[in-house]
Amino acid sequence: MMLQIRDLHKTFDNHSGEVLKGVSLSVDKGDVTAILGPSGSGKTTLLRCINFLETANAGTMIFEDRKIDMTRAGKSLISFIRKKTAFVFQNYNLFLNQSVLHNVTLGLTSGRKMHRAQAETIAMEALRRVGMAEKALAYPGALSGGQQQRVAIARAIATSPEIIYFDEPTSALDPELIGEVLSVMREIAQDGMTMLVVTHEMEFARHVSNHVVFMEQGVIIESAASEAFFASPKTDRAQAFVRSIMHQHQM
Ligand SMILES: Nc1ncnc2c1ncn2[C@@H]1O[C@H](COP(=O)(O)OP(=O)(O)O)[C@@H](O)[C@H]1O
Ligand SMILES: [Mg+2]
Repeated sequence: MMLQIRDLHKTFDNHSGEVLKGVSLSVDKGDVTAILGPSGSGKTTLLRCINFLETANAGTMIFEDRKIDMTRAGKSLISFIRKKTAFVFQNYNLFLNQSVLHNVTLGLTSGRKMHRAQAETIAMEALRRVGMAEKALAYPGALSGGQQQRVAIARAIATSPEIIYFDEPTSALDPELIGEVLSVMREIAQDGMTMLVVTHEMEFARHVSNHVVFMEQGVIIESAASEAFFASPKTDRAQAFVRSIMHQHQM
């Protein structure tokens, strides 16, 4: 088991009620887990708590055999975990005033104290894997959204993380740019990367992920192998959700 979350709870001070009401999940090395669920169900909050961008009100994380109280993880533990994980955001989060190459090397030279030459070699290899090597010296503003997200994925894989978290990586993209990002994600998955992916892309969830977690109102109401989930979701709500998303996307 590479990552385990047990009984994670989260409440925001300015929000009535719990946003996460005891979420538990397990991820094995090489797993690609799709997190599905309607807007507002707590998917982003879950990823942010797992990466300590938010502090949980209760919950235990087991990461590579370390047991961590998520309510009181200290700075050094958080930075240890962050060095082994990467995050891909909906809006890419690239530095617009830095070249593509610099965006990718930054986490290596400053975060990991790597020498520039070595960082650039690794960054170029990561950019090659996402088909963006020719744009190494371009600035993000000159790229399409799909290209920017591929650079963000290169930045993630360049650090050789144990796991990559994706939060709706294609939701901000024009429809014609979604495919190029999904196919890069599929290749990375096939190379064995462990991935936890919040997505509304049912084809990706069905054909690339091996596990599906369905959330609603801060609770995981279904967790199953992808094949079994898509063959017949156990709950009516998951069934209705999948049907409505498929319907929207086919129109
Ligand atoms: N920083 C915050 N402060 C207050 N409420 C928040 C905050 N972030 C999220 N929420 C609330 O938590 C709930 C879950 O949000 P979110 O995790 O973004 O859901 P999802 O990603 O599934 O759409 C929503 O009701 C949202 O309004
Ligand atoms: Mg979200």
